[in-house]
Amino acid sequence: MGSRPPARRVSAAGSAASRKPNVNGHAPRSDDAPVPAFTYDPANRRILVADDAEDIRTLLVELLTDEGYDVVEARTGREMLDIYHGPQHPALVLLDVQMPDMTGIEALREIAQSSGGQTLPIIMMTAFTTASVAIEATMLGAFDYLHKPFDIENVVQKVKTFFSTQEQEAQMTADPAEADQRLRDEIIGSSPEMARIFQMIGRAAASDAPVLITGETGAGKELIANVLHKNSLSASGPLVKVNCAALPESLLESELFGHEKGSFTGALNQHKGSFERANRGTIFLDEIGELTLSTQTKLLRVLQEKEFERVGGTAPIHVDVRVIAATNRRLEDEVSAGKFREDLFYRLHVLTIHVPPLREHMEDVPLLVQHFLHKHRYGVAGRSARISPDAMDKLMTHLWPGNIRELENTIQRGIVLSQGGLVTAEQIQFAPQAGGRLIDITQRVRERMPLTQVLNEVERELLVEALKQHEGDRVAAAHVLGLELTDLTQRLHDFGLDGEYAAD
Ligand SMILES: Nc1ncnc2c1ncn2[C@@H]1O[C@H](COP(=O)(O)OP(=O)(O)OP(=O)(O)O)[C@@H](O)[C@H]1O
Ligand SMILES: [Mg+2]
Repeated sequence: MGSRPPARRVSAAGSAASRKPNVNGHAPRSDDAPVPAFTYDPANRRILVADDAEDIRTLLVELLTDEGYDVVEARTGREMLDIYHGPQHPALVLLDVQMPDMTGIEALREIAQSSGGQTLPIIMMTAFTTASVAIEATMLGAFDYLHKPFDIENVVQKVKTFFSTQEQEAQMTADPAEADQRLRDEIIGSSPEMARIFQMIGRAAASDAPVLITGETGAGKELIANVLHKNSLSASGPLVKVNCAALPESLLESELFGHEKGSFTGALNQHKGSFERANRGTIFLDEIGELTLSTQTKLLRVLQEKEFERVGGTAPIHVDVRVIAATNRRLEDEVSAGKFREDLFYRLHVLTIHVPPLREHMEDVPLLVQHFLHKHRYGVAGRSARISPDAMDKLMTHLWPGNIRELENTIQRGIVLSQGGLVTAEQIQFAPQAGGRLIDITQRVRERMPLTQVLNEVERELLVEALKQHEGDRVAAAHVLGLELTDLTQRLHDFGLDGEYAAD
């Protein structure tokens, strides 16, 4: 011990013993404001070694001092907490699990209580060979754990990893909005199906022909449109998105093509439509299968002649806009049913990107999971949560009717439930409406449920879903269901749903 430079080592007995714990057992503070459990300070290289065994403390102090860290010691859990909350606040704690006054897990739990679930600068040291301590420590937010007796190389390695991770994360979270944005526009997947999509995006980006993206809900159509626009060689203008299902025909046309002042009641000013705003850029027409035949005709003209008139206007307006359309319907079927213009279909069908449902490329699930764990970090300086093997098994056997969106939501829920720690199988909870919502016809027949009752069940779910998708907007919900508003209102009333989704 004599070989250590004394300035580098602050003994717990010297610095913290004079600081008496208050009634709660915490070190007294100058005010009652909660001290953030963990704030990154690049200048802080202090490590607190908390262990009741002197030989282990000595070993670690020497080892880490030689590596250039400032090392402080604590012999009990209480002492550790005092130093942790005191002026000698360490950047990292190596915390023994078994100590005489309180266990390391208890001390960790106390720190975790005020941490808001973020990852803690704590590496647990345990002689237990069972996983339970490691799991509990991880769930409470410990950064890592070391098994005793430890290999010295391993200790140094883990400590170094801790400091470099802090550094990296400080850089990454310096501008969370920017980091988020980067991940938001990333398409993940290494399956042959996804490889084919990347290839198609590349091909489409090099041309300015219309692109049709088809696929089930949540499969990633809008994400592909975003990426395609970003990479598009010809689009220098903005990406403007229009959800064709959200508006009744007249409003949609004015939204798409704009209107002149006074063209209809309420048209107080001239309005530039989405096509004009998207000039030299891209327009994303989501749910294009919902367009009425009349709007389809107008759209066809824009595609063919690159021009249109504003609602109530006579002067043709010329635009140069790449059209990306998306639908979860089979447009071929809509054409056969006379609901979609065949000529428009062929115009849009030049470049088609079909996004497969997630159940057809399950080998991408692990990558997607890692991506979402990273995308939805927990807390401000939070590290990415992790996933347990049994949770991953559960994810690999689900059918994902809501596709990648459902997977993303499931992971997000798991991250919240695990408070950014280790997501376990119990924390993987499938949204009932995602899988369960598809009414199980086989089951209904087995249950001998009468037709009218099944139809009622379907109708009720449709009404609820339409309102949900349109945030309780009954006009929009009635429109997508092809109902008159009064009819919708009556049906909601019949199901006793008027209270729940009252209009405003
Ligand atoms: N391959 C992917 N990699 C990473 N994230 C993805 C991928 N595919 C989809 N996502 C994410 O899943 C969510 C749903 O995707 P998106 O909104 O593009 O689906 P969609 O096909 O447009 O669904 P809907 O038909 O319901 O509108 C988004 O948050 C998106 O970022
Ligand atoms: Mg979409």
